[in-house]
Amino acid sequence: MLITLDGAGPRYAQITRALRNLIQSGGLPFDARLPPTRELARDLNCSRNIVLLAYEQLVLEGYLVSRQGAGTFVSPAWPRSGRDTGPVAAKAVPMRVSSRGRQMVDAAEKARAAMARRPGLAIDFMYGLCDPDPRVVARLRAAFNSALRSRTFRYGPPTGDPELRQQVVDRIRGSRGITCTPDQIVITNGAQQALDICVRLLLDPGDRMVVEDPGYASAHAVFIGAGATLVRVPVDSQGLDPETLPRDGKSVRAVYVTPSHQFPTGAVMPAARRYALIDWARRRGAYIIEDDYDGEYRYAGQPVAALAALEPHGRVIYCGTFAKSLFPSLRLAYLVVPPGLAHALVHAKWLSDLGSSALLQHALAQLMATGEYDRHIRRMQKHYRSRRQVLLGALKRHLGDAAGVVGASAGLHVVLWFTKLPPERVTSLVDACAARGVGVYPIGGHATRRLRHAGLILGYGLTEATQIERGIELLAAAYQEISAMAPPPRRAAGSKRR
Ligand SMILES: Cc1ncc(COP(=O)(O)O)c(C=O)c1O
Repeated sequence: MLITLDGAGPRYAQITRALRNLIQSGGLPFDARLPPTRELARDLNCSRNIVLLAYEQLVLEGYLVSRQGAGTFVSPAWPRSGRDTGPVAAKAVPMRVSSRGRQMVDAAEKARAAMARRPGLAIDFMYGLCDPDPRVVARLRAAFNSALRSRTFRYGPPTGDPELRQQVVDRIRGSRGITCTPDQIVITNGAQQALDICVRLLLDPGDRMVVEDPGYASAHAVFIGAGATLVRVPVDSQGLDPETLPRDGKSVRAVYVTPSHQFPTGAVMPAARRYALIDWARRRGAYIIEDDYDGEYRYAGQPVAALAALEPHGRVIYCGTFAKSLFPSLRLAYLVVPPGLAHALVHAKWLSDLGSSALLQHALAQLMATGEYDRHIRRMQKHYRSRRQVLLGALKRHLGDAAGVVGASAGLHVVLWFTKLPPERVTSLVDACAARGVGVYPIGGHATRRLRHAGLILGYGLTEATQIERGIELLAAAYQEISAMAPPPRRAAGSKRR
């Protein structure tokens, strides 16, 4: 038999590959008999054992079948289209999952679609992402190597690395006004896991939970996946308004809020509303889950103390993450829990994954202990402040009064409301930007009510200052194109508004 070997790697692997390719390309039809191993070995000038190894591998992969006393054949069960050139994936026949599983998948599908990133664009204003600077990456590499040298190979405590928890306690006292002990800190794999654990621990299926609208779709998906019934309350320019919280007397187990930089609108909740929210939660016996996802970056206004700093009676669970202060792939975050909840939370975390990576936590604790983490934050604050200035300047220059910018006082994104463009036309605007190589993202995926205007979230965690000017110029051109086109026929009135 004539087969061509590619010369790469061990001989048995070359023969396996050549035969597999031959089968996939139709060169060996169903049920074709392969030459005896001795014969092929002679043809290929190699030992019979090498050919035997290749045949065994292909039997294992399902391409060949061996029939006692008859020889080796191309498997008739091998599924092929006749034009296959690569390995064939098993056909995905949807399999039954539980109704809870269905709920999880539906919620996650919706949230992921709302936040999907457009691939391959030259200038991308994707939010929620950032790159650390090379200096901190080098320090982290050294800290990680040192964790390997010190043989940090065992499971760590499920609460997290003791040094890291102490470092977190020291940071949030100064920066967020939160006084707590390391026993109240639980290190998690990102804020996402922190929220997942909290909601599963605190809510029974069907329990009501208040969330912001618009709000963080990923978190809402976690809550829905855990069986919570969401009560969506509108946010305004000061974030969630405690006046709009449910007053129907029915139980509410928890409120999830982003008071320091509301996601996505960027509103900062003033102190009076914070006290009113705490008061409401206390009277209703509800927990507050405070997500402070980008609190490290604040550019204007006085810092407002975290809800967890204002409420000494154990109603607030605070969540911080290293996703913005360092980078999202680190997957490390933390919860500050009331003392009375610490025991339960640690067990829930243990149940979930036995604890976050001890190696990574050890490395991060070293980064913080040496002061390198704080230096990094200070450098990044300067860096993002200047990017933000470039962005605000470009928006003013290219869009003028056509769009209002909000939420620019903190974080790594701003929100742009187009005063004359109805929300239905935002998809056309996004597409027109994509056609010019610019990625912009609608706010609508995070809202359930009809918005008054078309709105975009513009992230600047990834976008270099040099690209921002050009990106906004192209966004303005796309806006001109879309607003010059005739609007599509209006839908029936009667939907709710922002
Ligand atoms: C509101 C909010 N919370 C939390 C996070 C970060 O989550 P994680 O720590 O799971 O990456 C983000 C990321 O964009 C966010 O927007």
